[in-house]
Amino acid sequence: MSVASISDFRQKAKQRLPHFLYEYIVGGSYQETTLRANREDLQRIALRQRVLKDVGEVSTECHLLGKPCKMPVVLAPIGLAGAYARRGEVQAAQAAEKQQTPFTLSTVSLCSVEEVAAAVTPPPWFQLYMIKDRCFVQRLLQRVARVGCDTLMLTVDLPVPGARYRDVRSGLNGSNTMMNHMRRVGQSLLRPRWAWDVGLRGRPYSLGNLTPELGRDSGLADFIRWIEKNFDPTATWHDIDFIRQNWSGKIILKGILDVEDAQQALDLGVDGIVVSNHGGRQLDGTPSTARALTAIAERLNGKSTILADGGVESGLDVVRMLALGADGVLLGRAWAFALAAGGRLGVQQMLQLIHDEMRVAMALTGHTDVTTIARASLVSEAL
Ligand code: GLV
Repeated sequence: MSVASISDFRQKAKQRLPHFLYEYIVGGSYQETTLRANREDLQRIALRQRVLKDVGEVSTECHLLGKPCKMPVVLAPIGLAGAYARRGEVQAAQAAEKQQTPFTLSTVSLCSVEEVAAAVTPPPWFQLYMIKDRCFVQRLLQRVARVGCDTLMLTVDLPVPGARYRDVRSGLNGSNTMMNHMRRVGQSLLRPRWAWDVGLRGRPYSLGNLTPELGRDSGLADFIRWIEKNFDPTATWHDIDFIRQNWSGKIILKGILDVEDAQQALDLGVDGIVVSNHGGRQLDGTPSTARALTAIAERLNGKSTILADGGVESGLDVVRMLALGADGVLLGRAWAFALAAGGRLGVQQMLQLIHDEMRVAMALTGHTDVTTIARASLVSEAL
């Protein structure tokens, strides 16, 4: 089957990945209400069709945090991506480099920040969780700075992990039993191409940024237990000072959903925020990001960079998020599917698809310059 859309990448990823990995990507927390709301609310946003506007030359080019980008799109941090394709984070970062798109490396990636930074120019953005052991955080930030990363995305919506029923049912999470291990091995053997290409040849299977803590070849399931033990539920706004003392680059807070929190981030002078509910993977029952975005954008009123994620499955969805007030959009599951489906070329193709779809959406809404997309690009009763 030829791939025409993000959902085609999803289908391919489902065919290629062991069940527990596919479920890890697609899943949300609890009843997955927020996961569904992200998608449904975004789909409901009605774009305003305009005609006879001379859209012969359409440009998606823009600046994000002062850097030129091909389009206002960033690859979001995704855990375990090195398991979706062999050394997957390197492949995805290389695809992003080709498409002049920032790539964000997760703390819980398989490839270390050194491995990814050596493969691409410029180095990736880096995502950090607040971890209890602040000396470990300091050492990690030093490693990240040493390889030249200049943008830190601090995830603030995971002081404790939300329950993901799918991961328990698939055998990825839950008790550390031989039975669960055998279930994952069994699911992997049902995907021989993955088992050979990624399972066997993709080693080491450790979390590169946590290797000193977790050891090499510590196993995928170990990382979930590590999160539960090591993420810091006592972190507060004061810890932003700690980050600032240990990081001289840009700081973005990811996981803001409330206007008061957005205001506090602005008052603290961070460089940007990501309006996000963690892809519906944390607090189930929160508003969708499309819904939260409007109020936050109104409050910040252009004083800080606003990125947004959640339910984005096409270039049209990117345009919708921009019209709601985002300066840029994070793609998460979309690149995970594309990576699993086609490696580096898959991610490149996915980004090209998003770009092409954005251009059409811009032309049909009468925009030639992506920076002019605004609330007026929506029909007034859109929300
Ligand atoms: C980690 O951030 C996850 O959502 O699995």
